[in-house]
Amino acid sequence: MHAGTILFFALFIVSASPVSVPSPAFNNEQDLWAQVPIQTAVNFDYIDPRIGGGRFLDFTTPHKGEPLNVIISGKSDPSVLSEDGFTNYARSLGFSNECLGLHFGAIHQADLGDGNGKINEQLLAREYSFGGPVLGTCWESLAGGNHFRAWKQNGTSAPSGAWFLGVSKEENSGKHHEIVPNGYNLGRDFLISQAVSSPTHWNSIWWRTEVELVEGLLNPGKDGVNHGIEQDGLVAVLTVTRI
Ligand SMILES: *[C@@H]1O[C@H](CO)[C@@H](O)[C@H](O)[C@H]1NC(C)=O
Repeated sequence: MHAGTILFFALFIVSASPVSVPSPAFNNEQDLWAQVPIQTAVNFDYIDPRIGGGRFLDFTTPHKGEPLNVIISGKSDPSVLSEDGFTNYARSLGFSNECLGLHFGAIHQADLGDGNGKINEQLLAREYSFGGPVLGTCWESLAGGNHFRAWKQNGTSAPSGAWFLGVSKEENSGKHHEIVPNGYNLGRDFLISQAVSSPTHWNSIWWRTEVELVEGLLNPGKDGVNHGIEQDGLVAVLTVTRI
């Protein structure tokens, strides 16, 4: 810091302490709030689940979990924050929910720190490469590939509306849905690469997606991670707008 700046602060603190100096710009709180809007929780991108006792690993077993490595921001278009809208958006990225309603793979739980505690996954979607969203997901169920589970952060103590996704790339069903080496990073990166090839579309609805990678939420490494697969700890935050 510049010596002059330090001196300035020193003088300011000294002179500010004995006298209460009113801010010249605001006469009362109403004036201040008019200029500095307070965001309601629903306008948050997401709320760090750890604040409310949750975590960035799901509960695959009581002790191991898979990383929640993608967040669909609560600032996304409201339609994407609904279950139907999100399902459509996911289809525009090449993911579709279960093969003809059949469920392959165990149910995972997650605690998003929103007061709901551990809850079951609300959506499971798989990559479809061939055969479109219905038959294509059957193919993925057998052949392996990218998939995600999703939970919505909408409990009363953290109602951001954001979706938290655990994305990974798995082996074929003969291998009991094990994750491929580096499968958490690979799954996340596949989803991001689909999203940034935007605009994406499904059923003539078009979306544009902004992606940001955030560190410091999910611990990098393999501690507590299901299958002991190392991951880089980066969480992709996607903000989706409808165009
Ligand atoms: C929270 O979101 C889930 C998934 O869309 C939904 O099933 C549930 O009813 C929602 N809860 C509230 C309180 O809105």
